Amino acid sequence: MKILVTGGAGFIGSNLVKQLQRDGVDQVAVIDDFSTGFRENLKDLDVELFEGSILDRDLLGEAAAGAHAIVHLAARPSVPRSIQDPVASHHANATGTLYVLEAARKENAHVTLASSSSVYGANKVLPKSEDLRPMPISPYAVSKLATETYALAYSEVYDLPVLPFRFFNVYGPGQAAGHAYAAVVPAFVDAALRGEPLPINGDGLQTRDFTFVETVTQTISKAARERIRSKDAVNLAFGTRYTLLDVIEIMESELGQQLPREFRDPRAGDVRDSQADNAALMKLFPEIEPVGLEQGIAKTIEWFATLPR
Ligand SMILES: NC(=O)c1ccc[n+]([C@@H]2O[C@H](COP(=O)([O-])OP(=O)(O)OC[C@H]3O[C@@H](n4cnc5c(N)ncnc54)[C@H](O)[C@@H]3O)[C@@H](O)[C@H]2O)c1
Repeated sequence: MKILVTGGAGFIGSNLVKQLQRDGVDQVAVIDDFSTGFRENLKDLDVELFEGSILDRDLLGEAAAGAHAIVHLAARPSVPRSIQDPVASHHANATGTLYVLEAARKENAHVTLASSSSVYGANKVLPKSEDLRPMPISPYAVSKLATETYALAYSEVYDLPVLPFRFFNVYGPGQAAGHAYAAVVPAFVDAALRGEPLPINGDGLQTRDFTFVETVTQTISKAARERIRSKDAVNLAFGTRYTLLDVIEIMESELGQQLPREFRDPRAGDVRDSQADNAALMKLFPEIEPVGLEQGIAKTIEWFATLPR
């Protein structure tokens, strides 16, 4: 069985490649342009690598040939990046998705796609159930809404089997830190291990539904192997709601020390609160057992501690 992972050299992608191999998938292909992913992430993994952009339709077609399923993760994955260059985000995330769907249609491959909780945007209702009105407040969020709605339209008009997931805050080993667009958990863990103050955008009381990467990749692997489809986008998170200050407290208890904090201005385009309704997810994947935040943070710290610094 061949599964193609777009963006397979990235954080979630490289964890997924390992998960697919643990789950017995014998042929894993990756297409990645290494814009935010790393060669190092695929070191020692038996993958067929197509180096280049999903916007190169010939290369994408080669990578998708014979695929049972495609997991589409390639994207410019950041709200601030999209504010800086909205056109580039649109090309990679919206046009890129359209090209992936076209490649999948040719192969009749199942497609699992990465959308985002950011599509709920300014909609303040909690928890976020999938039938809430999307109110994106950043170009990134708009491009992710395009990702999932293109997929659902392909399912309607071409009967293509698709499953668009809305990821919330995915964190864990392999996530890049130390750059301006780093996600909050790696930014905190990296700062803590360097003995630097933890950078907090805003008051730290904003809430997130943190999801450990292995829980995410186990779910995606099953979806792709079994070609599980859905008529709607599905939240891939478990209904937890932690503030950033809660995350710091968990880190303090894990590391056995107080961590200094540095408060900064809130970031444009960030939502205040986020928490998933997971009823649709549990209906499709009743057996999933998520890794909790304490255990997930411990595993993340353990991985970061192995990096040279
Ligand atoms: N990490 C999260 O919390 C989170 C939350 C919501 C949604 N997502 C989505 O999940 C997906 C994976 O995110 P991630 O956190 O692993 O990010 P990442 O940056 O680590 O991975 C993205 C990968 O896509 C590659 N890529 C980007 N543009 C490409 C292109 N045009 N052609 C080929 N490859 C390209 C990058 O090089 C990188 O390897 C993204 O679609 C992101 O929008 C992530």
